[in-house]
Amino acid sequence: MDKVNLRKIAIIGCGFVGSASAFALMQSKMFSEIVLIDADKDKAEGEAMDISHGIPFVGNMKIYAGSYDDIVDASIIVITAGAGQKPGETRLDLVHKNVGIFKSIIPEIAKRKCRGILLVVANPVDILTYTALKLSGFEENRVIGSGTVLDTARLKCQLGEHLSVDSQSVHAYIIGEHGDSEIAVWSSANVSGIPLDDFCEMRGHYNHDKSQENIAEKVKNSAYEIIAKKRATYYGVAMAVKRICEAIIRDEKSILPISSLMHGEFGIDDVVLSMPSIVGANGIETKVPISLSEDEEINLKKSADTLRSILDDCEI
Ligand SMILES: NC(=O)c1ccc[n+]([C@@H]2O[C@H](COP(=O)([O-])OP(=O)(O)OC[C@H]3O[C@@H](n4cnc5c(N)ncnc54)[C@H](O)[C@@H]3O)[C@@H](O)[C@H]2O)c1
Repeated sequence: MDKVNLRKIAIIGCGFVGSASAFALMQSKMFSEIVLIDADKDKAEGEAMDISHGIPFVGNMKIYAGSYDDIVDASIIVITAGAGQKPGETRLDLVHKNVGIFKSIIPEIAKRKCRGILLVVANPVDILTYTALKLSGFEENRVIGSGTVLDTARLKCQLGEHLSVDSQSVHAYIIGEHGDSEIAVWSSANVSGIPLDDFCEMRGHYNHDKSQENIAEKVKNSAYEIIAKKRATYYGVAMAVKRICEAIIRDEKSILPISSLMHGEFGIDDVVLSMPSIVGANGIETKVPISLSEDEEINLKKSADTLRSILDDCEI
């Protein structure tokens, strides 16, 4: 199968994240066919029915529970299958269970020679994106992780609130692991071209180091906080999934901090982590290595080392 149907997407895993993503995608009207797959067939069927009942409010499309045979021509295959964090668990705690799940899912996709783009969302997303890449044998540009797209949104959200400005005017990135070793890149952060510190002073904030530390901590701990309060996070990530799909389907060449395989950038090799990257019809076009301060670069290397040691432990 060499052709993909640009109007068709598949979602594997229909729990909180998969179903919220399907709901966001349905409202976007980007696709005319959304296939849902879950190990629990009833769950996929129930979600497909429920979400379908919104179709009369947005426009005609097909949303149904399917099998792997139904996704051969899907333009994007989103994988959200896997256990989520329990209160107090880190994303890396999920690794063995979810690598096991990927070892059953990815060969099903690979043996059908699917031509679409794999978008990995399940956690730990960087480790699972690496797993998907190795097990699928797909070209690197077609295997991407949602990475720190969500964390970056959380950072923009926090900064927008702190500075009382539209978060869409904030340009700042979280890079590295989608997890505890992630890095907020303060050195190049700006608000519509105005260096962040200057904009902060314009808004009456002068204690830059303290504010940055507080905001980075809040962003890093968002998932823990939400999970402690409501067991899972899913709306934010669903919007991140929608945004990445949009960039692919519309061949936007937008710069998003998705995760992909590193090839010596900042001296980091054979690890998947997030770096701002140009995303379009072919998935990842190229990484855009962001300029980093000395400390940010050191922390990025530490983040990569953390991920490398997990990969070694899993023998992927
Ligand atoms: N990348 C991100 O930014 C981000 C954000 C939030 C959550 N997540 C991750 O997304 C994943 C899903 O979270 P959730 O809250 O939806 O969990 P959930 O438990 O609600 O859903 C997981 C679903 O996967 C299904 N599943 C399990 N094994 C399967 C298999 N082999 N084939 C098909 N389906 C299978 C389960 O039946 C279940 O419906 C977790 O790993 C979570 O940590 C990622």
